[in-house]
Amino acid sequence: MTSASTRTVLITGASSGLGAEMARQLAARGYDLALCARRLDRLEKLRAEILAADPSGSTTRRIEVRELDVNDADQVFEVFRGFRDDFAGDVTDGTARGIDRIVINAGLGKGAPLGTGGYAANRETAMTNFVGALTQAEAAMEIFRAQGTGHLVMISSMSAMRGLPKSMTTYAATKAGVAHLAEGLRNELHGKPIKVSVIYPGYIASEMNEHVAQQSPLMVSTEKGVHAIVEAIEKEKASACVPPLPWAPMSVLMKHAPLPLFKKLM
Ligand SMILES: NC(=O)c1ccc[n+]([C@@H]2O[C@H](COP(=O)([O-])OP(=O)(O)OC[C@H]3O[C@@H](n4cnc5c(N)ncnc54)[C@H](OP(=O)(O)O)[C@@H]3O)[C@@H](O)[C@H]2O)c1
Repeated sequence: MTSASTRTVLITGASSGLGAEMARQLAARGYDLALCARRLDRLEKLRAEILAADPSGSTTRRIEVRELDVNDADQVFEVFRGFRDDFAGDVTDGTARGIDRIVINAGLGKGAPLGTGGYAANRETAMTNFVGALTQAEAAMEIFRAQGTGHLVMISSMSAMRGLPKSMTTYAATKAGVAHLAEGLRNELHGKPIKVSVIYPGYIASEMNEHVAQQSPLMVSTEKGVHAIVEAIEKEKASACVPPLPWAPMSVLMKHAPLPLFKKLM
C-alpha cells in the first residue's frame, strides 16, 4: 500500500536510456511510477529491478507499466487516462491522489540531409518527437487541468538552440518545437499551480547514441546525465541545460555565435 502523500511520476519512453534511468533515480527518491513505451518486456524488467532494489520492499513502492506508441494518438489518451485512474485514490477515504508530474521523454534520432532520399526517417522523427510530444502534452494537460495542479516536464535537447546541418536538421527542428510548446504553456500558466519545465540535455550515453561512430568527448554517463536532469526537475526549473557544465554557457554560444564560427564548433 502506498500513502496518499506519495507522489507519482509518469514517464514516457521509459524502456531505455534517460527514461529508464529517470525511473530508477526518481524511485530512489520515493516516487511511485507510471511507465510507458512500446517495449513492454523492458518496462516489466525495469519494474522488477526497481522493486528488488527498494529496501522498503514492493509493498510500499507502486509501479504501473503500459505499452504505448506515441504515434498512436488514441492510445496516448487511453494510456494517460488509464494511469490517472490507476493512481486516482478515493476522496471519501482521504486517499485521493493523482499524477503529480508527467515527463514527455519518448523520442528518436533518425535523420538524413533534406533532399537526399531520407524523407521516411525525417518524417518518422518529426512525427514521434514533435507530433507525438504534442499529443502527450494534450493528454497530460487534460489531467493537470482537471486536477488543478501538476508538473509537466518536456525533454528537448541542446540541438534545439540552433538549426543544425545534415542528419541533425529535422531532429533539431523537432526539439526546438518541443521547447516552444513548453514555453507557450509556461507563458499561459505563469503564476498558476501547474508548472512547466523544459530540459535541454547535452550528450548523455543512451541507446540513441551508442552506435554513433564518433562519440563526443562531452558525452557523460547515463547516471551522471540523468542525475543532472532529476536535480533540475525536482527544483521545477523553468528551463535547464544538463549537465549545466558545459551546456549552460554553450547554449549562449550556440544561439549567438556567427555562423562561420558556429560551423567550426559543431
Ligand atoms: N541521450 C542524449 O544524449 C540526448 C540528448 C538530448 C535529448 N535527448 C532526448 O532524450 C529522450 C530520450 O532519449 P534517449 O537518449 O534515452 O534514447 P533511447 O535510449 O533510444 O530512448 C528512447 C525512448 O523513447 C521511446 N520511444 C521511441 N519511439 C517511441 C514511440 N513511437 N512511442 C513510444 N516510445 C517511443 C523508446 O521506447 P520503445 O522503443 O520501447 O518504444 C525509448 O524508451 C529523447 O526525447 C531524446 O531526443 C537525448
